[in-house]
Amino acid sequence: MTANSKAAIAERLSEARARTFELIEPLDDEQLNTVYSPILSPLAWDLGHIANFEELWLVQTIGGHEPLHGELGRLYDAIENPRRTRGELPILRDAELRAYLADVRERTLEVLDSVDLSPDAGDPLLREGFVYEMLLAHELQHNETMLQLLQLVDGYESEAVDAALAVETAGEGPETIAIAAGEYEVGAPERGFAYDNERGRHGFELAAFEIDRAPVANAAYAEFVAATGAEPPLYWERGGGEGWVSTAMGRRAPVDPSDPVVHVSWEQADAFARWAGKRLPSEQEWEAARPQLQLTGHAWEWTSSDFLPYPGFRAFPYPEYSEAFFGPEHKVLRGSSWATHPHVVRASFRNWDLPQRRQIFSGLRCARDA
Ligand SMILES: [Fe+2]
Repeated sequence: MTANSKAAIAERLSEARARTFELIEPLDDEQLNTVYSPILSPLAWDLGHIANFEELWLVQTIGGHEPLHGELGRLYDAIENPRRTRGELPILRDAELRAYLADVRERTLEVLDSVDLSPDAGDPLLREGFVYEMLLAHELQHNETMLQLLQLVDGYESEAVDAALAVETAGEGPETIAIAAGEYEVGAPERGFAYDNERGRHGFELAAFEIDRAPVANAAYAEFVAATGAEPPLYWERGGGEGWVSTAMGRRAPVDPSDPVVHVSWEQADAFARWAGKRLPSEQEWEAARPQLQLTGHAWEWTSSDFLPYPGFRAFPYPEYSEAFFGPEHKVLRGSSWATHPHVVRASFRNWDLPQRRQIFSGLRCARDA
């Protein structure tokens, strides 16, 4: 059975859904409907949006079916409905919401039965199962967004979350990696799933630079806060004495000095790097150095790069995925966080956000000119 056989796709869709349900399992309907922050959707919106995106692509677009609930999709359009408005929308809730997730999935599996997924399929959405890969990635990425909100839910408990939060101890190695000047290849290869913003793979000229092998740790960040009076990361509060505690999920857990720092904004990351006599790496430097870095997978890493199209960019399958966000107002993050599903992680993956955001699982690594 290949990764893209229909049985494998159905299995992976069901695994992703199981993870979504696992995350919300400890919550009641009231918590699913609560607006915890103006910059994060209530979880009920995320759930309806996950189902609606599936319906739009896998049932309406691929299967040619009419939507189950008429104009409902407008409420789940991420661009039409900014996050601060989502709690007020007449979205599906409670039992109706659960029924919609199940009804869409039933139709998705019917359509999957009838489509041609061969490599020479006429529709580029179907070729090599692209649209199914997109759907899987979408749900798994929304799981990470849901985990951002779950940091605000007092008393939230999940074994899966605690397991993901455990940081692997760092291997031995040099403090910095020297990368020689030259042309490096960046971007996603021709084959395999990637988003439009990762294509096409192209050469990029880099001057010689050095990059830290490890991401910045909590201890170094605490030193920076103490020395400059900079704001601590989100969810840090003073513990007893010198230390800090993390208040995420309503806990008061001591901040481990050796863990990578997380929940810092681009502005803070940039200020830290300057204070340390270094700078943030560009995303091309990050990608060129990646095989030699210690990638803990604990926190996304801010880069100095604006989110811009690669040469020859073509929007696919829709401009609102990437193109609508290109420009100097968004900064690129690379790597992955503890909340990122391994299926979503790849060398060319470009995450992006506003420079002041820190509810995301964001940290940094420093670089400098050689
Ligand atoms: Fe989405």
